[in-house]
Amino acid sequence: MARKISFLNYKGGVGKTSLIVNVAASLVRRGKRVLLVDLDTQSNTSIWLMRLNRWNELNSTGKGALYSIFDPGHDTLSSIVIKDVVQDKLGKAILPGLDVIPTTFNLVDIESEYRDDPKCPSFVLFRRQLQELEPQYDFILFDCPPNILRASQNGVFSSQELLVPCNPDALSLIGFTLLVEKLMLFNQRSATFREAGQGNPPQVSGLVFNSIQPGMDIEVPKMRMQLRMNQFKKQKRTAPGAKIFSSYIRRAAVVQRAVTLGMPVINVAEQGSSEETDAVVQDYLAVADEIIRHRPLGMEEELA
Ligand SMILES: Nc1ncnc2c1ncn2[C@@H]1O[C@H](COP(=O)(O)OP(=O)(O)OP(=O)(O)O)[C@@H](O)[C@H]1O
Ligand SMILES: [Mg+2]
Repeated sequence: MARKISFLNYKGGVGKTSLIVNVAASLVRRGKRVLLVDLDTQSNTSIWLMRLNRWNELNSTGKGALYSIFDPGHDTLSSIVIKDVVQDKLGKAILPGLDVIPTTFNLVDIESEYRDDPKCPSFVLFRRQLQELEPQYDFILFDCPPNILRASQNGVFSSQELLVPCNPDALSLIGFTLLVEKLMLFNQRSATFREAGQGNPPQVSGLVFNSIQPGMDIEVPKMRMQLRMNQFKKQKRTAPGAKIFSSYIRRAAVVQRAVTLGMPVINVAEQGSSEETDAVVQDYLAVADEIIRHRPLGMEEELA
């Protein structure tokens, strides 16, 4: 059974997309089969991994992009998966095992134009179609915008776990707090749509610090987050095993450069490494390993 994890924070720009893409690539390097689903209209994950030329073709027609499963509704999730998405400039797959469900700018229409069936909201339709794909993957990861509006709801409703990327600042703490409140409301509102075998509603399972300036001491922001998390845990508003990850991602210029190069940092390193690149690759691998070991829902911890 695939582990399904949404990466979400109500604060924008904390590094959700950078983290999810590079962690997905690290999980693949650890031998896992990974499907990455882009649920953000900004299409950052899709543009990054498909590169602009390939993505432009999708964007101009909307065919083969996520919104097409809702409107006109002829496609299904299985039919729009892009296998082994990361390619070199000659079109050779350089990260086999990383698949993507891409999105384009028209996903914005799901928020207001789209009229879903009140008996089968978009997140139910999405989850039913996703079930078909699950046996093919160890991990299905959802890159969400910084809210739980309709696009995000697809991932959140299908997830067991929520991972919260954050920066060591007060706004990330506010974003985390707001997320827990909005998640509770969504879980209440969607409870009647949960189906047999779906398991418990999703909860926050972990928090990962991102973009930490080398040499910066993050003990104080970490402690503030921990206090907030402890409060939520007592109120049973996060998973019983929710934790702040001990590994974190340093700030490194290569993270931004990797977007321009159209590949995860791990592939950039394979083409020419530097001390900084190697260090941040190790950070991503460490977070991926911690995800593999961390079973917050009461399951036994896997040996890495
Ligand atoms: N570890 C890092 N080192 C350096 N820059 C980083 C790091 N992580 C993220 N960034 C940069 O920070 C910016 C925001 O990151 P990203 O787009 O991943 O955030 P996001 O949370 O997905 O944003 P949004 O809320 O818009 O979806 C980008 O320019 C990205 O390259
Ligand atoms: Mg993003």
